Amino acid sequence: MTKTVITGADAGLGFSFVKQYAQAGHEVLAGCLSPHLGQIAELAQTVSNIAPLKLDVTSNSSIAAFMDQMKDEPVGLLINNAGVHYRKWSVPEDVVFSDWEHTLQVNTLGPARVSFAMRGNLARAGQSKLVTISSDWGSVTKHPGTAYDYCSSKAAVNSLMRGMAQNWVKDGITVLMVHPGWTRTSMGGEDAPATADENAEAVCAVIDNITQKDNGRFVDNQGNDMPW
Ligand SMILES: NC(=O)c1ccc[n+]([C@@H]2O[C@H](COP(=O)([O-])OP(=O)(O)OC[C@H]3O[C@@H](n4cnc5c(N)ncnc54)[C@H](OP(=O)(O)O)[C@@H]3O)[C@@H](O)[C@H]2O)c1
Repeated sequence: MTKTVITGADAGLGFSFVKQYAQAGHEVLAGCLSPHLGQIAELAQTVSNIAPLKLDVTSNSSIAAFMDQMKDEPVGLLINNAGVHYRKWSVPEDVVFSDWEHTLQVNTLGPARVSFAMRGNLARAGQSKLVTISSDWGSVTKHPGTAYDYCSSKAAVNSLMRGMAQNWVKDGITVLMVHPGWTRTSMGGEDAPATADENAEAVCAVIDNITQKDNGRFVDNQGNDMPW
């Protein structure tokens, strides 16, 4: 049974990834801020291959505690999904620097911390996949001219993953960045054209089909290349 770790697993796209991979028979470790509350705790009561675990991606001690529970077990798939996005439509220069710092902590340093901690587990799985949920707003070419904080955090995580792809391929780890599509979640808002379940299903299909030749790519939810 493939062991799959998903961050930000208690809401939005993360919760949809949990449902999809549990249904596909993976053993899902659902990393979240509040593992004993809400829909993730409820689902885990009836689905035996889901384990909600505390995982704050901004905290070294939280990641260490998570790793203590996982020990040396192989991980076939890690999805860095946790994300925050503060001020979408405000005057761009109104950005609050403390919010920007937290955005970088969650969206950029979070995937670094979690991935670095889990490198050995991914390597032990043989052929494994490290997927980071990025955004079209992380594309420098497609910059919307707003949300400086969010856009820079996603462009930076793309750069990080692109670098890691060069170094981790020798461990059999395929690194992929995916724009999931505009999604109806608390982040994406009510006007988004697709539900979390719909876009997560599309992303899962992309993930299922990748091989090592896709290492280091940044793609949309149909597997098409995104501009950097
Ligand atoms: N929605 C879109 O249209 C869209 C478009 C492009 C990219 N994305 C990306 O897709 C990913 C998922 O977004 P979403 O729309 O599903 O957002 P969401 O509904 O707001 O969910 C974000 C998740 O991240 C968790 N999280 C926040 N801070 C965390 C931390 N420090 N440690 C661990 N988990 C943390 C949240 O936990 P709590 O609920 O407990 O706060 C929540 O589970 C994000 O990376 C986002 O940037 C989304």
